[in-house]
Amino acid sequence: MKGLILSGGAGTRLRPITHTSAKQLVPIANKPILFYGIEDMARAGITEIGIIVSPHTGAEIREAVGDGSRFGVDVTWIEQAEPLGLAHCVLIARDFLGDDDFVMYLGDNMLEQDLVDFVARFQAERARRETLPLEGDVAPAAAQILLARVDDPSSFGVAEIGPDGEVVALVEKPTDPPSDLALVGVYIFDPTIHEAVRSIRPSARGELEITDAIQWLITHGHRVRHEVLEGWWIDTGKKDPLLECNRLVLDTIERRVEGSVDDASVIDGRVVVEPGAKIVASTVRGPAVIGADAVVERSHIGPYTSVGEACCVRDSEVDDSVLLAGARVSHISRLTDSLVGRDAEVRRADHRPRATRVMLGDHSLVEVE
Ligand code: TTP
Repeated sequence: MKGLILSGGAGTRLRPITHTSAKQLVPIANKPILFYGIEDMARAGITEIGIIVSPHTGAEIREAVGDGSRFGVDVTWIEQAEPLGLAHCVLIARDFLGDDDFVMYLGDNMLEQDLVDFVARFQAERARRETLPLEGDVAPAAAQILLARVDDPSSFGVAEIGPDGEVVALVEKPTDPPSDLALVGVYIFDPTIHEAVRSIRPSARGELEITDAIQWLITHGHRVRHEVLEGWWIDTGKKDPLLECNRLVLDTIERRVEGSVDDASVIDGRVVVEPGAKIVASTVRGPAVIGADAVVERSHIGPYTSVGEACCVRDSEVDDSVLLAGARVSHISRLTDSLVGRDAEVRRADHRPRATRVMLGDHSLVEVE
């Protein structure tokens, strides 16, 4: 079994962060989103991983991941010249994938459930049907999808499940959803998918859709297994889901204080203070993480806050937020529900006339109190 992680794409919904950086490298609890997916694959015993990248962010992602050895995996890089769809990623990964089964994972998705059982069940069913066929058995499944119950199925790819539990149809963003079961960004395919992605045509939005490729499998008589997700799943491609994901992951951290904390500071609850960080005359309420070499002075941080490496927070209160590396916040009475980009600065002006002054990147958003 190989792995294919999709880490290209346009990332329009996370601008302006994605103007200069890959959304898959935005940190959740100070670890890039993409690393959670790679670690998840490694835990499931998948060591040959292809990663799809765009020309725009490929170099940065390669540098962050390296050759994969620190995750115990071997990485093959596959550049996608344009974001032409999830099924297009399978098409261009053909040489890497060969005739192996593979797990496909969207690089900006995070799930609580790990891949171990999901992969094991696909393999167990195939092995049983191949080695010990029972009467009435049909061919093993050519694909396995993961589904989650959602409140608003019309904004997702939705599966229709037949009376015997088989997936009978998939519809992309249906106006009249056949169920509340949405496709989660993790799939397993056998090599039949290559014929499917070669056979389908681009959708109205000009992309080769993976839902169309899976539908092609079903229409051509191939079985598609499904499982319903246990635990949470988040597509982190927008700010608010990203912050929600940060909260969920921070809820699982263990206290570890390695940086310096002076006597006038209080570290309350599950807080990580990385080496080289300095907490001065401040309160950090967990769950929260303070990155290496960050400085927090006369401030109140948390709960549910990730302060990145080498950030500087002075005379401020920050909660429910993610600050990327090198961000600076000073004299802000309360910064909440915020995502602050690398080396970005938020500060209160102390000169007159009192006013809000901004220098914002394209597609930025500021909500003034
Ligand atoms: P999406 O979030 O569906 O698409 P996107 O990244 O283009 O974002 P937006 O809609 O905000 O513009 O993509 C899911 C994942 O798959 C994400 O990690 C990017 C990746 N991807 C590719 O690698 N190639 C592609 O052609 C597409 C569409 C997505």
